[in-house]
Amino acid sequence: MATNQHQRILAVIGTRPNFMKMAPVVAELRGRSEEFDTILVHTGQHYDRAMSQVFLEELDVPEPDYQLEVGSGSHAQQTARIMERLEPVLLDCDPDLVLVPGDVNSTLAAALVAAKLLVPVGHVEAGLRSFDRSMPEEVNRVVTDQLSDLLFTHSPEANDHLIDEGIAGARIHCVGNTMIDTLVALRSRIEAADAPMRLGLTHGDYVLVTLHRPALVDGPALVDTVANLEALSHALPVVFPVHPRTRKAIDALGLGIQSDRVLMLEPLAYLDFLSLTSAAAAVLTDSGGIQEETTYLGIPCFTLRNNTERPVTVEVGTNTVLGQTPQRIPEIPDLLAQRERTGDIPLLWDGHAAERLVNVLTRHMAMVG
Ligand code: UD1
Repeated sequence: MATNQHQRILAVIGTRPNFMKMAPVVAELRGRSEEFDTILVHTGQHYDRAMSQVFLEELDVPEPDYQLEVGSGSHAQQTARIMERLEPVLLDCDPDLVLVPGDVNSTLAAALVAAKLLVPVGHVEAGLRSFDRSMPEEVNRVVTDQLSDLLFTHSPEANDHLIDEGIAGARIHCVGNTMIDTLVALRSRIEAADAPMRLGLTHGDYVLVTLHRPALVDGPALVDTVANLEALSHALPVVFPVHPRTRKAIDALGLGIQSDRVLMLEPLAYLDFLSLTSAAAAVLTDSGGIQEETTYLGIPCFTLRNNTERPVTVEVGTNTVLGQTPQRIPEIPDLLAQRERTGDIPLLWDGHAAERLVNVLTRHMAMVG
């Protein structure tokens, strides 16, 4: 274990959405090197260059100290592989705290390993709940929160959920949204990227689409979804960077799109994706983080799911939960026309969440000394 003055924090990342959540936290920790030694572990849950390395480069995340290279597999295989490969790293590094972001299998696996070794866990983006246990992420969230000693939240309802589940208030810290820190820090580079122009699109005149959840893309709804994207494209051009899971499913079903107004792309890097988001007429998604990014940018978001674990995005008015009903996709132009403009940004989504989070770590470490 590190000395009282110098605390050793081991941060775990594994998938695309983790990188935006942890980049500002790792930067803040590394910036306070007189207080913290920071060790970065990449599980390798996401491994394609377009799903991982390009993000680390654009977000200026330092080269991970450990690469576990676990790759894909069933949930049990992936979780078990991460646990097996992370345990010796923790034994070797002997950290004072393990930090895990979000709700993916890497998050849960790392929290379990740390908790079993009696290493305290800090959970970034704690307390989100869809109340839908058929989502693998919901199971990951609930269990990770129960295992965590420090729970970093970004909205008041997250605190309420944790309290309802019996977690002591003293462990919960509403620090704000670290994913928005990344957006704020890179805003001028996002604007300079002008991806719409490079793709021949007109600002404010296309719908950006992302879909990757198993409930949608691994089931019969995918056929309907693709057909309805084509129908939507008659009214507004559609830009669709395709996640590898979705690409596999589309290829397996032999689904094709005839319209040249649907632009299917490989997964995009962060700056290009946010550049496309910030100039879109609307975004259609089943992602979690994109509901938050569109809220910050004031861009209408239509969520193709039956629920959201981010209700604050609906309350401020940018997000509309369409349900998992692909046949509603062509309604988007009418829904946009009926919409009242809103511009509220949730409290503490201000670019300073990582700073507040690390301040909590400083105070906590001083107390447990
Ligand atoms: C995972 C997360 C999900 C998150 C998403 C972001 C879990 C349970 N799910 O879902 O919460 O929203 O990441 O993208 O952790 N694949 C590649 N290359 C890669 C990574 C994946 O081709 O670099 C393909 C593989 O076929 C793999 C499939 O995508 O089997 C699914 O990957 P996986 O990591 O299991 O889950 P995601 O769908 O990406």
